[in-house]
Amino acid sequence: MCGIVGYIGSKEAQDIMLEGLGKLEYRGYDSAGLAVYNGETIGVRKSKGRLAELEEKLQVRFLPGSLGIGHTRWATHGKPSDENAHPHVDEQGLFAVVHNGIIENYIELKEELIAKGYQFTSETDTEVVAKLLADIWDGDLVSTVRKVVQRLNGAYALGVISEYEPDKLVAVRLASPLVVGIGENENFIASDIPAILKYTRDVYILEDGELAVLTATDVELMRLDGTPIERNVMKVHWDIETAEKGGFDHFMLKEIYEQPKAIQDTLAGRIKEDKVDLSNEISLSKEDVQQIERIHFVACGTAYHAGLVGKYVFEKLTRIPVEVDVASEYRYREPIINERTLFIAVSQSGETADTLAALREAKQRGAKVLAITNVVGSSVAREADDVIITWAGPEIAVASTKAYTSQLIAIYLLGIYFAQQLEAKNVGELKEVVAQLQKLSEKAELLLQPEQVSIVANFAREIAKHQNLFFIGRGLDYAVALEGSLKLKEISYIHSEAYAAGELKHGTLALIEENIPVLAIATQKALYEKTVSNIQEVKARGAYVLGVTITGDTELNKSVDEVIHIPKTLDLLAPVLTVIPLQLFAYYACVERGYDVDKPRNLAKSVTVE
Ligand code: F6R
Repeated sequence: MCGIVGYIGSKEAQDIMLEGLGKLEYRGYDSAGLAVYNGETIGVRKSKGRLAELEEKLQVRFLPGSLGIGHTRWATHGKPSDENAHPHVDEQGLFAVVHNGIIENYIELKEELIAKGYQFTSETDTEVVAKLLADIWDGDLVSTVRKVVQRLNGAYALGVISEYEPDKLVAVRLASPLVVGIGENENFIASDIPAILKYTRDVYILEDGELAVLTATDVELMRLDGTPIERNVMKVHWDIETAEKGGFDHFMLKEIYEQPKAIQDTLAGRIKEDKVDLSNEISLSKEDVQQIERIHFVACGTAYHAGLVGKYVFEKLTRIPVEVDVASEYRYREPIINERTLFIAVSQSGETADTLAALREAKQRGAKVLAITNVVGSSVAREADDVIITWAGPEIAVASTKAYTSQLIAIYLLGIYFAQQLEAKNVGELKEVVAQLQKLSEKAELLLQPEQVSIVANFAREIAKHQNLFFIGRGLDYAVALEGSLKLKEISYIHSEAYAAGELKHGTLALIEENIPVLAIATQKALYEKTVSNIQEVKARGAYVLGVTITGDTELNKSVDEVIHIPKTLDLLAPVLTVIPLQLFAYYACVERGYDVDKPRNLAKSVTVE
């Protein structure tokens, strides 16, 4: 998983590409590099580490020229190092290539090329592409690239330049995202739109198996067999500010504060006269919904945790049995699927390789496939039969926040919509859910008021000294506990576990000792007493407990050391609010520990490899 950019025009390619790579660092940031054609030869600079290190190198030795490709890497084959950083070149330096994805048959290709006398300088799969370009060169860059690509198995987005045809930049896409930006007397390629937004709002989104040939004044799209493609230019309406930090110290904090708006935007236009109306967005008819026998929510990480909430929501509102699976497990467990199965993929990026593969598996086995995603035109969105977009806007911080809350909103909307179709619930009851749903944005705002935030921040500062922590809860509180625990682990590196509170005594209670912090969630009325008993079990063993409950509860503070109140809402909707203090908690613990909030170690925003 990596980010690629490319430029052809009349400006200095280096500056434009560095800027673009800065916007793509969320895709990986363990090394970076550029290749620029200077009128005679292709110059390459690359460096292990963050983009800043490459920039330092470039300050010493500038790469002049108006044709170039660039890369920010998240290592898959070969450790982060200068040698393994992209771009990769052939032995004579006549071709340079950047790649996002995995070439699965690279060992076989490498052996073949070594047998022919080629020497390799990196451990990457990508270097075979550069060597193959030289080996297969037939006097025409596009035709050579097409021939090379035919030899590759796996997933790739490639950007290629060559000294032989320095008026061209060639890009290919198979299962890794790639957009082409259309400028005036300049054109661009990038893994994602923010990288080129400063220069153009006109883009083509490449599909799998498509190739783009860019010159300074023209863009030609074709299939890999050379068949030309006609496509309408897509206009991007985002404001560039949307992709910037907007005054916050970190993208994650900014995105936490954007949640009231993300909730509102995701609801917008989807509620009419007390009812959810998704009829303009999804093709499932009333009869189709009535045919559904089972639902499979499939996703990874935070999106999987949204799916766990989805199980409660759908089972309660529709009484359709729901299974929730981690995508990387689902695809290999031969799930029981038929045409009466509805598969729901949840994915912020819409590019997560495991989720996409699970979606394909379900589709192939006959399921109806629906996607909940934040990225219009993403692979998951394109391949699903139906799509519900979460209107959270670009999420830059690696740790997902606003995408999660808007995924929950999309899940509620869909659950209510299905319940309406099935007439499974009392109309008044559903209306109440709809009414409360519309109040969530305002209530989320209350949780972001300074006095609320400072309670959480103080607790987080205290907890930052610890190495271990537990989250406990029952029912929907357990689903949210899992998300709170993931958030804390991924950015603060504090080990934490989320436990169904009733399960503690079956083993984990042995780990509770004097002063161990426990974050206990008790927002679900029906389970309240039971959760309080579990809190007492940990308290009796010396735990230091922060409780989360609903405003108006005056009982919990008798059993815990500190308490956070979330505004009153329906039990079913509480996760949207409960998660906000947990996100803030992870954020402040990370800041206190001095780690990089937006770019936690070993992680990347969009996981496009298995
Ligand atoms: C955690 C996080 C990840 C993602 C996961 C799935 O904060 O962001 O766990 O949720 O990698 O990503 P998407 O939703 O893009 O499929």
